[in-house]
Amino acid sequence: MKDAIGREINYLRISITDRCNFRCLYCMPEKGVESKSHMDILRFEEILEFVKAVAPLGISKVRVTGGEPLVRKGVVGFIRELRAIDGIRDISMTTNGSLLSFMARDLKQAGLDRVNISLDSLKSERFHKITRWGKLSDVLCGIESALETGLIPVKINCVMVKGFNDDEIEDFVNLTMNHPIYIRFIELMPLGEKGWGQGRYISADEIKALIKEKLIPTGAPAGAGPAVYYRAPGAVGAVGFITPISRHFCDACNRVRLTADGKLKPCLESDLEIDIKTALREKKGDEHLRRLFKEALLKKPVCHHMKPEENAGHFRKMWQIGG
Ligand code: GTP
Ligand code: 5AD
Ligand code: SF4
Repeated sequence: MKDAIGREINYLRISITDRCNFRCLYCMPEKGVESKSHMDILRFEEILEFVKAVAPLGISKVRVTGGEPLVRKGVVGFIRELRAIDGIRDISMTTNGSLLSFMARDLKQAGLDRVNISLDSLKSERFHKITRWGKLSDVLCGIESALETGLIPVKINCVMVKGFNDDEIEDFVNLTMNHPIYIRFIELMPLGEKGWGQGRYISADEIKALIKEKLIPTGAPAGAGPAVYYRAPGAVGAVGFITPISRHFCDACNRVRLTADGKLKPCLESDLEIDIKTALREKKGDEHLRRLFKEALLKKPVCHHMKPEENAGHFRKMWQIGG
């Protein structure tokens, strides 16, 4: 289905929890955040009811996000049910990868197609520092399990933070030489902890300038996202750039988001939300859910207004939206 300015919307990102077992510096305060009560979070049956209702409107790609989606009990069964919905062709997940080595096989068997894994440093001490207590080896095992079980293509999300991990760009590029993975350098968006991004934004052009290898433009692997890909000569994998700030991709935007507490968000950046939970709990039915979905599409902003390092203080942070 098209939105008000003709963009085809076929991609739904579903956040199934706002909890996370990490506390990445740019995302959450160390003490964590007040979690929503169970009552406020959509039950899996409710999410599935919503997906079934909107699939006939052309939603064919679903991404499961968090917080960290693998901390929610019952996620494997949820994937199995999603797989059974008519019209849903691509099911992916964005995860921090820390629990993946235990769950990859079950997730694949349940019908998950592929994973994107967040990884901001290849140095264990630094990784520990940025996640506040994460173990790099857990995530590396997770990546290995994803490749072994065929949750492919495996994409790695690497948020670039000036003065923190921009000295590792070459190391990340080198990973693509021998591994069939897609490393995506992401520009830091001002959607996390207020004030944290000051002086830490680095643009994709600056990142590219720090890469010694000649990068050759290459096609995108399976997916629905905004990354633009390049290959270093002889590399098995590829390098991608996600440029929400320096070169936004809103004119090609194909997505809407459902938050864990049941709000439909037509845009990552905008505070505009449409309440789905009430309609689900009041058993308003599929037609009504479709009406709300169409309303969200009509209200979808043309473009975001994010500026580097300028945190507008949106009431939802990245961990509540799922990226
Ligand atoms: P595929 O390409 O289908 O694998 O997915 P994706 O790149 O859309 O998903 P992922 O969750 O891995 O997102 C990667 C990064 O892109 C994250 O930092 C997201 O916040 C960012 N991103 C994803 N969608 C949007 C969007 O609509 N707007 C903006 N500004 N950033 C986005
Ligand atoms: N800017 C850019 N990317 C972010 N992510 C989380 N917070 C930010 C931010 N402020 C990334 C995570 C994850 C994806 C869903 O979004 O690293 O890979
Ligand atoms: Fe779409 Fe909003 Fe993301 Fe732009 S910022 S690509 S309009 S969701």
